[in-house]
Amino acid sequence: MKQTLKHLRRVGAITAAAAAAGLLLLSGPAPAQQPGKIKIGLMLPYTGTFAALGTSITNAFKLAIEENGGKLGGREIEYFTVDDESDPAKAPENANKLIKRDQVDVLVGTVHSGVALAMAKVARDTNTLLVIPNAGADEITGPLCAANVFRTSFSNSQMGIAMGKVMAEQKKKTAVTLTWKYAAGDESVGGFKETFEAGGGKVIKELSLPFPQVEFQSYLTEIAALKPDVVYVFFAGGGAVKFVKDYAAAGLNKTIPLVGAGFLTDGTLEAQGDTAQGLLTTLHYGDGLDNPKNKAFRAAFAKAYKVEPDVYAVQGYDAAQLLIVGMNAVKGDTTKRAELVKAMEAAKLDSPRGPLALNKGHNPIHNIYLRKVEGKENKVVGIAVKDLTDPPRGCKL
Ligand code: BEZ
Repeated sequence: MKQTLKHLRRVGAITAAAAAAGLLLLSGPAPAQQPGKIKIGLMLPYTGTFAALGTSITNAFKLAIEENGGKLGGREIEYFTVDDESDPAKAPENANKLIKRDQVDVLVGTVHSGVALAMAKVARDTNTLLVIPNAGADEITGPLCAANVFRTSFSNSQMGIAMGKVMAEQKKKTAVTLTWKYAAGDESVGGFKETFEAGGGKVIKELSLPFPQVEFQSYLTEIAALKPDVVYVFFAGGGAVKFVKDYAAAGLNKTIPLVGAGFLTDGTLEAQGDTAQGLLTTLHYGDGLDNPKNKAFRAAFAKAYKVEPDVYAVQGYDAAQLLIVGMNAVKGDTTKRAELVKAMEAAKLDSPRGPLALNKGHNPIHNIYLRKVEGKENKVVGIAVKDLTDPPRGCKL
């Protein structure tokens, strides 16, 4: 009898479970959360001339995630980190380590355009979601654009375009350019030349040296002999610190105005000290931008890391903000790629730089500011180009 009762109970339980399952089938499954943590692969430089840039991006990315409860789309995060050493030759192997060995859901990186070009290729080939928090290679969001590749920083030509326009407006007639010889420098100088010459100026000499060399003396001697109205340069990180100091040590800061893409003086002022005073640069960010998001971001970053943030931090923070929008839209379900991409494409971010939207190629549309170094600050003195967006450059999305 007892056995029969137990049997009946079991049958009853099975029947109830079956009925519940039937109901579930009729009403569709409850939205399932993918199990486990979202794996984020950070591929950035933590050594070499761009080391501080990689650290700044990483810290700000993590800050934005912490402000979001430490989660993306409701899921906890697991970080995987690779030092890419700003070395394009090691980039495919490094990216594949994160994608194939660590099985990351999202790749975040990097700083150096040559490394980013290789990463973007791996991301396209493996259909991995990639968010670029610095490297500006124009092609990545131009002819090589892809549904799974986003950028929260800039494209290299943007800063040159803005500064060429400003220098032409200031009636400078001749310019010499100097940069590291790779995509970032070439495109930055290309942008400068385009608008400077369209405005009536002439680039009389284009000088370059291999990345990441910092032996500037012979170039400074040549600039002194050429006596242009202005010198436009692209340098960043440790190289920017050395160049600005060397330019002043050669006495050129007294005779030939030096201008550049804003990386020349961003995150570098502490080390450059007096030698950077008065330098004009163009960038999509300025320290004292008067908007509530910038104030809150700067205070939170300084509190967390005991240093002032720079443009690289802004870009890292926005990379996380963009992922938060996308992952919230799919409740952390990374298999819903089309919905995820759609939400990221439509994102309107409240960035410390001001409002931030993306163009068709997934590159920022933003103001490019004219900044002047005053003390330890890149002070915004005007808007060089408002809401600058890249031309499609053959992007077919
Ligand atoms: C680049 O390689 O794209 C880059 C590096 C540092 C600052 C800005 C751009």
